[in-house]
Amino acid sequence: MKKILGVGIATLDIINRVADYPVENSEIRILSQDIRRGGNATNTLTILSQLGQQCDWAGVYVQESDGLRILQELERWHINYSACRVLSQGKMPVSYVTLNTRNGSRSIQHYRDLPEFDFASFQKIDLSQFDWLHFEGRNVLETLKMLQFARQQFPQIPLSLEIEKPRDNIEQLFPLPDVLFFSKQFALAQGAQQATEFLQQQREQSPQAILSCAWGSQGAWGLQPDSETPYHAHAHPPERLVDTLGAGDTFNAAMIDALLRQQSLPAALEFACATAGKKCGLDGCRIYKKD
Ligand code: ADP
Ligand code: FRU
Repeated sequence: MKKILGVGIATLDIINRVADYPVENSEIRILSQDIRRGGNATNTLTILSQLGQQCDWAGVYVQESDGLRILQELERWHINYSACRVLSQGKMPVSYVTLNTRNGSRSIQHYRDLPEFDFASFQKIDLSQFDWLHFEGRNVLETLKMLQFARQQFPQIPLSLEIEKPRDNIEQLFPLPDVLFFSKQFALAQGAQQATEFLQQQREQSPQAILSCAWGSQGAWGLQPDSETPYHAHAHPPERLVDTLGAGDTFNAAMIDALLRQQSLPAALEFACATAGKKCGLDGCRIYKKD
């Protein structure tokens, strides 16, 4: 068992399952509703925990009803949150998710009004206990300081970074991690049409890192440091597509797990697609059926 720190967010996800995605200014009936914890970093940690790793979350939570509900769920996955910054005032971020039961697509409207986890809080963590540090590409200047600090003080600990959305100056983070997880959304926003082309473009900015780019039902591509030729792994569609919310977070978790087990990049991509596919066949951030 390895020890992993995930730096990023937890949210309250309000998930409405609908028969089809609604047209604007229409009224439809919701088929069923789930309210549960979400957020990229904590989703990734819950999957890592199911894969048998020991996980800690570093983020911000508020001592209010949604915050406590989120903590209870993390406890169920044995995720330690003692590294978090705790606020007595404010509200946890909320995502309103429309889950289309016809094709499993998820459309997210996200509301947040909460300070981001900062470098001052990060510096208080005893990083020496961890085997891997995973970050979300948000709050760029503070994340840059965290990555630089970890790199300088603990050069032996692998660092991974998820790049989901374009943000000002986010490319400043690219030379630091050992593994970069890019989303299709980010690749398209950079003008790329395909993951292979995108990864080859990114090589120059991150010659040190393993690069990956997940592409929904087309699977994922990955590029080794010092290489120009990406590997591809096919998606593993489940028998029935139930819920794709958090598929990317699951993919990232399985990549981290496989790389910690010293798997090759092609094997890690294959395992990550298989694990994300399993998740797409189940509700929530889980890879095993409920008892
Ligand atoms: P995100 O959650 O960031 O939108 P993606 O849609 O890129 O993530 O999916 C991440 C991984 O999850 C993909 O590489 C693939 O392996 C798996 N996946 C996602 N959608 C599907 C799908 N419809 N069928 C099978 N696998 C999927
Ligand atoms: C899925 C997810 C949701 C959350 C949203 C935040 O990847 O983490 O659980 O509400 O993205 O952007």
